[in-house]
Amino acid sequence: MKVLVYSSKDFEIPYLEKANNKKHELTFIKDALSSQTAMKAIGYEAISIFSADEACFITIEKLKDFGVKYITLRSAGYDNVNLRAASRLNVSVANVPAYSPYAIAEHTVALLLALNRKLVESNLRVSHYNFNLNNLVGYDLNEKTVGIIGTGKIGSVMCKIMNGFGCKLLGYDIEENKDLVKSYDLHYSSLQELCSQSDIILLHVPLNKDTHQLINEDIISEMKDGVIIINTARGSVINTEHIIEGLRNGKIGALGIDVFENEKGVFFKDNSQEIPNDDFLIQLNAFPNVLITGHHAFLTQEALTNIAETTIYNLDCWSSGRETENELILKHATL
Ligand code: NAI
Repeated sequence: MKVLVYSSKDFEIPYLEKANNKKHELTFIKDALSSQTAMKAIGYEAISIFSADEACFITIEKLKDFGVKYITLRSAGYDNVNLRAASRLNVSVANVPAYSPYAIAEHTVALLLALNRKLVESNLRVSHYNFNLNNLVGYDLNEKTVGIIGTGKIGSVMCKIMNGFGCKLLGYDIEENKDLVKSYDLHYSSLQELCSQSDIILLHVPLNKDTHQLINEDIISEMKDGVIIINTARGSVINTEHIIEGLRNGKIGALGIDVFENEKGVFFKDNSQEIPNDDFLIQLNAFPNVLITGHHAFLTQEALTNIAETTIYNLDCWSSGRETENELILKHATL
């Protein structure tokens, strides 16, 4: 099968080539998919896209006209694909539902520990041979209450890790997981209760119409003073303007984000010569108690191997006329 791989990054190409083992004809391009770049897919039966690509109605319509029948995402999240359009136009879409929940959960812990123990500031001082410890006081995670919003694959690993730290766990999800209650003493609660009782709040929900700006000024006002919030899910799960206000007035003690609501067109590339004209990003970067990474929570060898293998598996299924169990339209038959 001829496959155009949009938004391909140097670090992932060797993994995709190894998993492919020359079965499919892969062409790698750096451009992100958009209505403007859709025409690059002329002559390809399938395309592969990443989380920063935009598969809106118009783009999918164009892809269909150009002969594209299959879209395989190299990500778990698929909020960037209009599944309704794909279904209507008979374009199959599949994702990589689970490539390594450990990668994301462990990165979440890295952000939390770095913020709580002020590692960035500490390292900055040491690099200047300044070993003064003032204002570097953190707290023990042991016995603290951690609120986990979204207890799916990543949230479940988070429960295991935070239970290991000796934390008390509160969970909020539309579907409760009894195993987590039994194994890690997780207590499910309402969103309000979780937010009012947690010292640390971790976000692991997909972006959908119900989670869009779930963390906004109303819910922030219910949180404990000095709460630490970590978002490795999707940028728009939080209202960035309200979060900045919370940081400014001291309600939020620290913020760690791997995702940002305006990340499209900014993340995944070097903008150092032309600083993005994004007021939110500039303001967030200026806070000493904010730690931002550029959507790289997934970036482990294991995750990249699994992403590549599942992407090639999805293509294998389609090229042999089979459905893949990772097909999103089949899973969302009510669309
Ligand atoms: P999952 O589907 O296993 O778990 C999501 C959980 O959220 C489910 O338990 C679901 O019931 C719950 N949920 C859905 N809507 C909800 C709502 N309105 N209110 C409360 N709970 C709700 O997904 P997984 O693998 O744990 O990933 C979660 C998200 O993490 C992904 O959707 C993706 O956006 C993000 N992600 C970020 C990555 C990164 O590199 N920063 C990499 C991979 C995923």
